[in-house]
Amino acid sequence: MSSETTSNPTYAPSAEMVSRAHISAAKYDEMYAASIADPDGFWGEHGKRIDWIKPFTKVKSTSFEPGKVDIKWFEDGTLNVAANCIDRHLETRGDQTAIIWEPDSPEDKALHITYKDLHRSVCKMANILEDLGVRKGDRVVIYLPMIPEAAYAMLACARIGAIHSIVFAGFSPDALAARINGCDAKVVITADYAPRGGRNTPLKSNADAALLHTKDSVKCLVVKRTGGQTTWVQDRDYDYNELAMEADDYSKPAEMNAEDPLFILYTSGSTGQPKGVVHCSGGYLVYAAMTQEYTFDYHEGDIYWCTADVGWVTGHSYIVYGPLANGATTLMFEGTPTYPDASRFWQVCEKHKVNQFYTAPTALRALMGQGNEYVEKCDLSDLRVLGTVGEPINPEAWNWYNDVVGGGRCPIVDTWWQTETGGHMMTPLPGAHATKPGSAMKPFFGVKAVVLDPHSGEEIDTYPTEGVLCIADSWPSQMRTVWGDHGRFEKTYFSDYKGYYFAGDGCRRDEDGDFWITGRVDDVINVSGHRMGTAEVESALVAHAAVAEAAVVGYPHDIKGQGIYCYVTLMNGVEPTDELYKELRTWVRTEIGPIASPDLIQWAPGLPKTRSGKIMRRILRKIAENDFGALGDTSTLAEPAVVDDLIENRMNKG
Ligand code: WTA
Repeated sequence: MSSETTSNPTYAPSAEMVSRAHISAAKYDEMYAASIADPDGFWGEHGKRIDWIKPFTKVKSTSFEPGKVDIKWFEDGTLNVAANCIDRHLETRGDQTAIIWEPDSPEDKALHITYKDLHRSVCKMANILEDLGVRKGDRVVIYLPMIPEAAYAMLACARIGAIHSIVFAGFSPDALAARINGCDAKVVITADYAPRGGRNTPLKSNADAALLHTKDSVKCLVVKRTGGQTTWVQDRDYDYNELAMEADDYSKPAEMNAEDPLFILYTSGSTGQPKGVVHCSGGYLVYAAMTQEYTFDYHEGDIYWCTADVGWVTGHSYIVYGPLANGATTLMFEGTPTYPDASRFWQVCEKHKVNQFYTAPTALRALMGQGNEYVEKCDLSDLRVLGTVGEPINPEAWNWYNDVVGGGRCPIVDTWWQTETGGHMMTPLPGAHATKPGSAMKPFFGVKAVVLDPHSGEEIDTYPTEGVLCIADSWPSQMRTVWGDHGRFEKTYFSDYKGYYFAGDGCRRDEDGDFWITGRVDDVINVSGHRMGTAEVESALVAHAAVAEAAVVGYPHDIKGQGIYCYVTLMNGVEPTDELYKELRTWVRTEIGPIASPDLIQWAPGLPKTRSGKIMRRILRKIAENDFGALGDTSTLAEPAVVDDLIENRMNKG
């Protein structure tokens, strides 16, 4: 139902949705107000949604004060995350499907893994890890395709109190090695091959290449996915499938403190190499579970599907931890939206009668371009709620999602959050809010979202307005630190605006006070929903012998949201050729991974710099956007002619 009462079209939920929803408009207002007025009371109550071994008596102990940033939730409580996601469901829903696994090829059989099956497999994996010497607090790197063993591995770590760090299977051996070394992992879990979209990535051989650059003591546990050939290193490589046949199928869950780390996940920032975001056990689980239930209006018996990869935070919170803590049936998909053709997502929805579907705008844009018939031939009548995440969604994609996929019946929850936040920070709730195409609408319970003036750092509490998005107080699933570098944590998130968590995103509030995320205000770009630091791509480029200097910016891309635009200055005497162009693209793919592949490289005899030698990225961004009229103040440029040259060459590219 659309109405035009404000300058934005709004879509109110149907009466049916409102009547069955957990959270109504009035309840949202009441709960949100309570969560802000009395965080201890509110979270003290909602903290009970998970099982504690020793109940907490303290709720919130947090400080955003510069130099003393310290975040603790439920700090004297103890629990086990895996027991919360599995064991506590055994009595009531042991035979219910916990995970539906849909393989890459529709010809292959889907698996239905019950909570009992999950318990057995996770216990076996836990025992295997212990036999390999993994103990409480040790780190385990997981480099797996989207197979059930990825979930087993995560939960097995949680069961024995080891800290997992998942590396997306699309990352290169170099990136994998950096992450293994970064957290000093004892074991890497990988698979022989990763089939995806009909292609087959040799994961084990990537891991072999990475392990040449790590400590000799790192062990490698290999899951058989395709049975394809691999090389084997004696006393370093272990066959998971063989060990699982023998392993004991019970493992006692370790008693963990709420503040013990659950996982590390590397993510890109605006400077330097990726940082290890640390999430802890208690607060993270409470928040992931609560948001999964309320944001998607999840009810007992629903089939819920998040299309993310477990290599990203969305897969952690909304494929594994949130849904399983709620005893849900969560679908795990190995493939891609367009394999074998552009109807795959919708065929999977039909086949498994999916009720809640959660994906990224980039996938929607790609599918939208293929035509409606791919959607219309599938029966999507079980869908009730649609979600999006990862980047701003443009109104065209939103409308297509709403009309063609959702048939106008399904509220769209546009969830804004980050690796650092652990769970949804802003989203409409399906039965409570009339949505607006492109707006993340309202903060979730306990989230004190504010817009600051970027120059004065003052809060702007009137609207409409625009500025930078900050969070004024802690929430339970906030990251606790950067692995091994608390100073970097403070500096990155708490130093620009004192007393606030600075998210790195720009934001606008409309005349109703609803929030619209306008994108990153730093040097982080968002390519197909994957987060990338331009500095990482630059350092990969300058590591090539032919490259003297490089500057990388994002530019608008129809499908990916943003593309990677590289300005490259070659070494003296090196000629720019088509071969070198191709070689540099391959080089970056090898250094970081296919997701970092440059979309455009422009040969730049010089880069625009200030007299003090700082590259003026603002100008480079404008040129990449083909927006030459708005270069702004160029008076501080050391050599203005450089800019004319870059524009001329950009224009030649059309
Ligand atoms: C962007 C993904 C607009 C944002 C969960 C954020 C979004 C970054 C949205 C985090 C959204 C995420 N609307 N932008 N609904 N969701 N973003 O760490 O720029 O991979 O800072 O976490 O993605 O990306 P990350």
